[in-house]
Amino acid sequence: MLEIDSVSIRFGTAPEAVSDTSFSVQDGDRLAVIGETGSGKSVLLQAALGLLPATAKVSGRILLDGQDLLQCREREMNAIRGRRIAYIPQGSGNGLNPLYTVGHQMRETIRKHQKCTRSEAGDRAVALLESFGLENGQTLRRRYPFQLSGGMRQRVLIAMGIAAGADLVLADEPTKGLDQHRIALVEDAFQRLGARTLLCVTHDLRFARAIASRVVVMYASQQIESGDRDTFFAEPLHPYSRAMLEALPENGLRANMGFAPPRTDLTAQNACHFYDRCPLRGERCRCAPPLVAVGDRKVRCWNYAP
Ligand SMILES: Nc1ncnc2c1ncn2[C@@H]1O[C@H](COP(=O)(O)OP(=O)(O)O)[C@@H](O)[C@H]1O
Ligand SMILES: [Mg+2]
Repeated sequence: MLEIDSVSIRFGTAPEAVSDTSFSVQDGDRLAVIGETGSGKSVLLQAALGLLPATAKVSGRILLDGQDLLQCREREMNAIRGRRIAYIPQGSGNGLNPLYTVGHQMRETIRKHQKCTRSEAGDRAVALLESFGLENGQTLRRRYPFQLSGGMRQRVLIAMGIAAGADLVLADEPTKGLDQHRIALVEDAFQRLGARTLLCVTHDLRFARAIASRVVVMYASQQIESGDRDTFFAEPLHPYSRAMLEALPENGLRANMGFAPPRTDLTAQNACHFYDRCPLRGERCRCAPPLVAVGDRKVRCWNYAP
């Protein structure tokens, strides 16, 4: 359904924000793109949505059912956003308009994209709120955003994000800044997406494990590993992925190797971006590692090259 094909993104003369990244999300898949801050996750989503500033240079293709989104005009993209792709931007807990009731905002979103009467849109809004575990949608629709708890607002936003009926949901860091209780509520909302397709970027490994069926790991602008969720969490391949999982509290919080960005001189010299922090580095890692297939998975690391 959504195919990211050899996408690179650059701003001015800075090192590439996204380098030659390719992966696809099949219909009904739940894909989590995991990566620390600055690894290029938001920029990639914005490229798919046509939301990057004009200063961004993008190459490659982003295909939605075969149509290249990077070639779409603004008018076409406007129609695709909302109707075919729902977007839940980062920090969306504050994204509701404080001046209107929840019901009004949802109704307007629904009516912008679907032919229906006001009262039909209202009924759909209530059904959607309830499908996200927000009890008593009838009461909730009359509330203003400030009358809701943060966790409720977040779930209303997810419901609103998909109110227009889009089958593909793109979400940017939906758990950022939330406490454990609210993270659990957001998890619950994502698990109720039904047959919809999800591409969610996150720095939160536990959240990714809870909601995803597949995982892509990005490190310093590159995709370094991809595979199905269970195999990835049981046996991560890339030394960076392993360090990340070992640092999870349930794995004993072993000292991790720090999550600073790589030195720009290394990326400029085309070395492996993880070179200076990698316990397994060798001479050949001074050259860019290939993306190697390991069973159904892929890893960008010389240690797996034949
Ligand atoms: N509008 C912009 N102009 C210039 N550089 C940008 C812009 N947006 C993002 N970047 C750069 O692109 C890189 C990736 O950023 P981003 O996708 O926001 O990372 P993430 O979402 O993984 O934290 C960063 O180095 C960031 O500084
Ligand atoms: Mg981001």
